[in-house]
Amino acid sequence: MAMRELETLRLALRPLQLADAEQVQILFPRWEIVQYLNARVPWPFPENGVRAYYLETALPGMARGKEWHWTLRRKADPDKIIGVISLHQNRDGNRGFWIAPEWRRQGLMTEAVAKVTRFWFEDLGQPVLRVKKARENAASRAISVREGMRCVGVTEEDYVCGRLPTELWEMDAATWRSLRASD
Ligand SMILES: CC(C)(COP(=O)(O)OP(=O)(O)OC[C@H]1O[C@@H](n2cnc3c(N)ncnc32)[C@H](O)[C@@H]1OP(=O)(O)O)[C@@H](O)C(=O)NCCC(=O)NCCS
Repeated sequence: MAMRELETLRLALRPLQLADAEQVQILFPRWEIVQYLNARVPWPFPENGVRAYYLETALPGMARGKEWHWTLRRKADPDKIIGVISLHQNRDGNRGFWIAPEWRRQGLMTEAVAKVTRFWFEDLGQPVLRVKKARENAASRAISVREGMRCVGVTEEDYVCGRLPTELWEMDAATWRSLRASD
């Protein structure tokens, strides 16, 4: 399934490109962004960390049709990246996202999540969406609650900030359709 640009009321979601690495390298390496991300994210974050991740993982994954990454930009200022959202064909980590702290608590990620989740179910035809998140990551958890996902398991995972209780959240396509019937 080819990537395409998506848009929400306030955001343009543009398929990730190697040229984005320069901006993201400045934006991303902040504790408020990485603390609840998977421990595979190196910390302290290396100087070329974003470019290396794009070249070795994200762009090859997109080319193989196994991963889909978009940069988030406000339509009001489309040259400036403010976050990233991605989908992955993993067993139970199908969606990831982060947004710079200065753009939080305005419902922007909620908008991006709605569009990208629609892409997962409608464009990709996936039967179920599963995500893992640290239980204490209240903002991320609130997004899953708001979407109508349900917590189906608890485990422990390693994050950049250490090992934490982790919830597995899921939603199947039929539930997603019924909740969005009136959209
Ligand atoms: C998680 C994250 C993407 C949320 O982005 P955001 O744009 O602030 O989210 P929204 O404004 O759309 O808010 C979503 C919900 O979270 C709630 N929320 C936001 N920040 C919160 C916080 N610090 N504590 C509790 N709830 C919070 C909002 O009230 C909203 O809930 P509601 O829909 O019930 O009103 C952002 O905090 C982030 O980038 N965190 C770091 C990266 C990360 O942890 N990613 C997820 C890994 S699983």
